[in-house]
Amino acid sequence: MIAIACDHAGIDLKPAVLEVLQALDLPYRDYGTHTHDSVDYPVYGELAARAVASGECALGIIICGTGVGIGIAANKVHGVRCVTCSEPYSALMGREHNDANMLALGARVVGSELAKMIVRTFLTAAFNGERHARRVGQLMTLDEGGTLQR
Ligand code: RB5
Repeated sequence: MIAIACDHAGIDLKPAVLEVLQALDLPYRDYGTHTHDSVDYPVYGELAARAVASGECALGIIICGTGVGIGIAANKVHGVRCVTCSEPYSALMGREHNDANMLALGARVVGSELAKMIVRTFLTAAFNGERHARRVGQLMTLDEGGTLQR
């Protein structure tokens, strides 16, 4: 299950994201927003992030104007590693090296075809483990309020 959410600035990009999910035959849950009425992106970032953090959804894709604000909001939720991407390479590395479990997109930054490429890349990549697992473990130590050994 993939969690989807956006604010009013991200809503026009949502159909492109859903198109990729349908093409990959991946079920999704849409946490809104559903209209162009102005809303606060942290609310929608949190909704999708909690679905991912709880395990209800394996991955999440969230959209706002830049992908920045909603991505910051998602990353405040314990257990979430959200990457804001404007090109596929970062989306690939975000999965392979950082075990990112959420992708944030900026509807005012990327066009729908580029967004589809980024989403497809993110959803079909896998975590590489090995040395990256130690570093992701360090990210999670920070996430829990811990301090890293140098
Ligand atoms: C809304 O105007 C805009 O600020 C929001 O979508 C997002 O880009 C924030 O980071």
